[in-house]
Amino acid sequence: MAIDILFKGGTVVTDAGMFKADVAVAGEKISLIGANLKPEPATQVVDCKGKLILPGAIDAHTHLAMPFGGTISTDDYETGTRAAAAGGTTTVFDFILQDFGEAFPDAIKRRDVIAAPQAVVDYSFHLAVKDVSNGLLYTMEDAVKMGVPSFKVFMVYDFGVTDGVFYEVLEHSKSIGALIAVHAENNELVGYLTNKYINEKKTSAWYHYMSRPEFVEGEADVRAIQWAKNAGAALYIVHLANKQGVEAVTAARDEGYPIFAETCPQYLNFTRDVYKRADGINFVCSPPVKGKESQAALWDAIIRGDIQTVATDHCPFLKSEKKWGADDFRKIPNGCAGIENMYPYMLSEANKGRISFSKAVSVCATDVAKIFGLSHKKGAVEVGRDADIVIYDPKARVTVSNKQMHGATDHTIWEGVSLKGYPVQTWSRGRLVFKDGKFLGEKGAGQFVPCKPIKLTTPDLHNL
Ligand code: URP
Ligand code: ZN
Ligand code: ZN
Repeated sequence: MAIDILFKGGTVVTDAGMFKADVAVAGEKISLIGANLKPEPATQVVDCKGKLILPGAIDAHTHLAMPFGGTISTDDYETGTRAAAAGGTTTVFDFILQDFGEAFPDAIKRRDVIAAPQAVVDYSFHLAVKDVSNGLLYTMEDAVKMGVPSFKVFMVYDFGVTDGVFYEVLEHSKSIGALIAVHAENNELVGYLTNKYINEKKTSAWYHYMSRPEFVEGEADVRAIQWAKNAGAALYIVHLANKQGVEAVTAARDEGYPIFAETCPQYLNFTRDVYKRADGINFVCSPPVKGKESQAALWDAIIRGDIQTVATDHCPFLKSEKKWGADDFRKIPNGCAGIENMYPYMLSEANKGRISFSKAVSVCATDVAKIFGLSHKKGAVEVGRDADIVIYDPKARVTVSNKQMHGATDHTIWEGVSLKGYPVQTWSRGRLVFKDGKFLGEKGAGQFVPCKPIKLTTPDLHNL
């Protein structure tokens, strides 16, 4: 097989370790990994001396061009995936909000016609469930057959599902190869606490946190896990941000239940004190960022393996939109940008010694692919997988500034954060899409990646 591209002289990072090797690419795939591979006359050689060769990250949680909070999230499929590429992310899973009365395959088609001409890196979808009445439940299976086997239910927001619907989709998921994900917060308590603080004229961003504190999320995590256990179904908790929830996930996994959890970089780097800052409104997301104890529990769970994935929950809004709620936290559109920051941040934490590079790769790429049925194509530097490759310079030093970001948002909660090391090149299926700070990709070059049906019956991903 011809070698089109040869990544030479670098250190390959997998979820299991690091080793010096050259990586050859033929067409869109990794074709060979080994020592001292020889280029052919037409081979493009990429000098990787002193650099790490990593799989492109898979962001399992984005909201691109999503109608939400009275507006539409700022990044569309072009600007969102452009920012992803610039941060070393080569696949994004975007959430499709089902319309009431809409069959799931129709929802996929409705969004794919928008995504396909815009995306610059590959993408897949999760479906956010609103309505399973009148036979719509049974269209979940058609979505699985189209390569979208993951569904999220919301326990909050005005389109959240009832407990009965949540349980029904959990039961149904088992027979069709689907995985149910949940946004877990106690809606009744959020409502009660919100009204209480508004009536007391406590309206600042801090009261967004106070109306959704640790126990409001933790209680819902416990309940969701209990239902999954009773239904005999796997469960994936998105954007886990609190210690009680971590403990519930850990306990269920120790008992052998297939319970999985994702957290986000904003919960790992910031604490609830951000809501007291002058720019506190910009950090408003749900669940809100929590206290130090929760943050420590999240890191410990990543290290133990009880949290398997890190994803962004990228859902940016303009400063002017965030300001709608300057005097009333209920009016702040919920969500923050992060698609360009996740992999650089997690790798920087590895470079600073908090976790290993292998752990950063597993939570941002390899285990994401395993959970969502993408291991046949994505998530590792391995022969036969797509040549989605990031070249990482561990010696680079970057202070995050929105001016250097590649999305459409006019601010970033990551402004001023210092990173040790940075991705210097991103390759998407053998195409160079980002180099030394410059975006080089092409609108519409990203492709929809169908996922395989998901059957998670044990907490141990290595048994898949
Ligand atoms: O604040 C957030 N997380 N916005 C996006 C929607 C969601 O709940 O994931
Ligand atoms: Zn959510
Ligand atoms: Zn989200």
